[in-house]
Amino acid sequence: MKMIKKSLAMVSVFALALATTAITAEDALENENAEIVEPRIVDGVPADVVAKEQEIEAAIAAGNPASGQEIAAGVCAGCHGADGNSMIPNFPSLAGQHPEYLLKQLMEFKAEEGETAVRNSAAMTPMVAALSKEDMANLADFYASQKPAPGNAAGDKDLLTLGKILYHGGNIENGVPACASCHGPTGTGIPPRYPALAGQHADYTLNQLDLFNKGERTNDNKVMQDVLTRMSGAEKRAVSAYIQGMR
Ligand code: HEC
Ligand code: HEC
Repeated sequence: MKMIKKSLAMVSVFALALATTAITAEDALENENAEIVEPRIVDGVPADVVAKEQEIEAAIAAGNPASGQEIAAGVCAGCHGADGNSMIPNFPSLAGQHPEYLLKQLMEFKAEEGETAVRNSAAMTPMVAALSKEDMANLADFYASQKPAPGNAAGDKDLLTLGKILYHGGNIENGVPACASCHGPTGTGIPPRYPALAGQHADYTLNQLDLFNKGERTNDNKVMQDVLTRMSGAEKRAVSAYIQGMR
């Protein structure tokens, strides 16, 4: 909770900085010599990303987990489990995930008419087609309020040791950064931007790493795609196995 407040405060500081330094399109048009206005970068994060994070924070604050639970029981439980702990290795567990991350994903699974979804998924894009932003916020608040089941380590000792080293320390040789620096030393993530990973099914995690690697999942502001350009296949398998056992 403390953490969420802190990051909220940081976002407002960024917003303030934006408001005072913003160059409007009108300013640019008035001055023929004006430089082309690029999307403004705030602390390395583009302004449109910051704006979306603020929209998400507001929707989450207004969300109603009880309404979310009703939709979840009817539509989502078959794949994600009644309490968001999925029993099927290809379907992610959602229990205890940060609501901001969940809402961002749901909004990005939804395709605008005639367009491909930002996070295009054969399974999920049809699931969210009929949901409003309020429904999605309610669902995100419901799953975030559920208790994640403790993880079970998958794989042999050598694989798990490699995964553990990589997760906490990265690999200096090929430049893979420590996952812990963004996803936290215990895998609980850093809300609102960095999702929790602890206990997630190894199959799901490995599949997401492959999707980032192939450029088929691109809703990460290039952060994960960049990490994946450096990782070997063995490292991907090892870290996915290690994450499943984190609790
Ligand atoms: C038929 C099975 C199925 C159903 C039903 C389903 N999902 Fe999913 N869900 C998936 C799969 C598969 C993925 C992984 C998608 C991918 O790899 O892009 C996923 C991913 C997600 C994610 C992203 C998780 C993450 O960690 O990034 C969220 C959030 C989610 N589903 C919520 C829901 C909600 C809410 C519903 C009900 C409205 C629902 N799902 C219904 C199969 C399903
Ligand atoms: C510089 C920060 C950063 C580092 C380092 C980082 N990640 Fe991430 N990761 C992110 C962000 C941001 C997202 C969320 C992208 C989004 O909004 O969809 C993410 C998402 C993910 C996801 C998708 C989660 C889901 O539920 O679908 C996985 C899996 C993941 N990271 C694994 C890793 C692993 C393994 C490492 C270490 C090898 C790592 N990350 C290092 C920032 C980072």
